[in-house]
Amino acid sequence: MAIGIRSLTPDFAGEVSGVDLTRPLTATEVAGLEAGMDRYAVLIYHGQAVTDEQQKTFSLNFGALEVTGGGNVTQASQQRLGAFMADVSNLGADHKPLPRDDRRRMFNLGNQLWHSDSSFRAVPAKYSILSGRTAVDKGGRTEFADMRAAYDALDARTRSEIEDLVCEHSLIYSRGALGFTDLTDEERAMFKPVRQRLVRVHPVTRRKSLFLASHIGTIVGWPMPEARMFIRDLTEHAVQPRFVHKHVWTQYDMVMWDNRSTMHRVTRFDETKVRDMRRTTVAGDGMTVEQLAA
Ligand code: OGA
Ligand code: MN
Repeated sequence: MAIGIRSLTPDFAGEVSGVDLTRPLTATEVAGLEAGMDRYAVLIYHGQAVTDEQQKTFSLNFGALEVTGGGNVTQASQQRLGAFMADVSNLGADHKPLPRDDRRRMFNLGNQLWHSDSSFRAVPAKYSILSGRTAVDKGGRTEFADMRAAYDALDARTRSEIEDLVCEHSLIYSRGALGFTDLTDEERAMFKPVRQRLVRVHPVTRRKSLFLASHIGTIVGWPMPEARMFIRDLTEHAVQPRFVHKHVWTQYDMVMWDNRSTMHRVTRFDETKVRDMRRTTVAGDGMTVEQLAA
């Protein structure tokens, strides 16, 4: 059966049929999925009961995997999953929901803020591939916003104002916005801000998009409050319902998105319930702007 992609909105988010992600894909299938990503930016597959190894193998079709270290406050000894699997669940190494006041849980609540994965790394991510191993039946949706459409909808004056702006991104800023500020010196060093262009160009389609994330703490050369206010306005514009697709999970859905042209967030849910989500991340292929010398 050939791969089919049904669009969920005219230009954003597609639902894929005719593919079994537990098996190796042909080069033609991979090319078809990449083309689908370039068009829809979010692809949704149903009924994909993959193992971690199968998820990694599938992800490697699209590039090298990102190393997961440096993205949270979970110690190596507390990890539930193996290398290259980002644990986006609400679970500890014992597979039980983390206590309400566990700092790993409080930190991970930051995923409820709009963001683009790894924008806090000098080389931000290409694709994220998220497997829903155990879904919750209320809340816990993942919402996606199309940053290409959001860019296109800006007026000409704003587009020219932001064209060459550079932002500083850090997990310190997104968690700080939640009042989570008790970071160790080591964590602060690990989360040192990086620079990203505010307007980026997709390497394949050449479409421009807004590179926004709650990780942004300032715009280089701007007073911080003015920068934050402007980023807040742009974000409010970018996440209007007309740019957003909401995914309601069923078990074994696999959702992949292009971090170069979308933002996402998870919605609140009852965290006494198990929500087991596992992510592989395809590494980006370069920085959006030069970093400051160390
Ligand atoms: C992620 C993420 C949202 C979710 O995997 O990067 O933000 O629905 N997850 O768990
Ligand atoms: Mn994320």
